[in-house]
Amino acid sequence: MAEVNLRDMTPEQMKALREFSAKLSHDINNALMGVMLLAQGLKVDQGVNDGTLRVLGQMEKGLMRLVDIAARLKMFSRKEELFFENADINEAVKSAVSRVSPEFEADGVSLTAEYADGLPEVRISKIAVRQVLADLLSNARQAVLEKETRQVTISTYLEDNKVMIKVKDSGGVKREHMKRIFEPFFTTRPSGKGLGMGLAIAKGIMEQHGGKIEFSSEEQKGSEFTLSLSV
Ligand SMILES: Nc1ncnc2c1ncn2[C@@H]1O[C@H](COP(=O)(O)OP(=O)(O)OP(=O)(O)O)[C@@H](O)[C@H]1O
Ligand SMILES: [Mg+2]
Repeated sequence: MAEVNLRDMTPEQMKALREFSAKLSHDINNALMGVMLLAQGLKVDQGVNDGTLRVLGQMEKGLMRLVDIAARLKMFSRKEELFFENADINEAVKSAVSRVSPEFEADGVSLTAEYADGLPEVRISKIAVRQVLADLLSNARQAVLEKETRQVTISTYLEDNKVMIKVKDSGGVKREHMKRIFEPFFTTRPSGKGLGMGLAIAKGIMEQHGGKIEFSSEEQKGSEFTLSLSV
């Protein structure tokens, strides 16, 4: 089977992929809406026994995963117009940290946040930036799972008149994967655990902000993903 190398896609092919993602996310959402309503209806039905309720709970979890996949496809398609406003980046980081901390706690990974004082405001879509940060943190958490020290740090600082956010972990990207991690649908996770969209979406969102996402990594040692935003 021929492998499609997404890195070498032309802008036209990329556009077609984005349009396809937009349509897919729309269709998935429509189908999901009906099923979710049916499942919720059954849950409040008096005649449902405990066993069925448990099954319904599991079904709901699966459905929520699909909702998440559809949302990611939509983000990737960039159909959604972003709403930009002046914001304190530390607030965005705090909100991302509180969103991901249940998973960090469940996995026994410690998450440290270091906030610089007196940072200038940046013009961002808070929702989109929070999504980027949550994805970077989630990748970092998964990267240290097999390590002895399970430590992730996120920090904010000012550099060359840019507001920077750095996510640091002690995992490390495999050398053979380094060139591919920003490709849409590139994932090394087991099937059902990753869509390979986190970094592709993050890159798109940073471009929409006129900002950058960069990384440096050393296999086995650790990685640093850095976002920069102009003030
Ligand atoms: N901090 C990291 N350390 C090591 N490898 C990483 C890190 N971040 C990303 N990767 C590698 O890059 C791949 C792509 O990451 P990306 O976030 O785009 O997708 P994913 O995490 O696999 O799935 P998704 O984010 O859609 O759930 C990952 O599968 C992993 O192999
Ligand atoms: Mg990811």
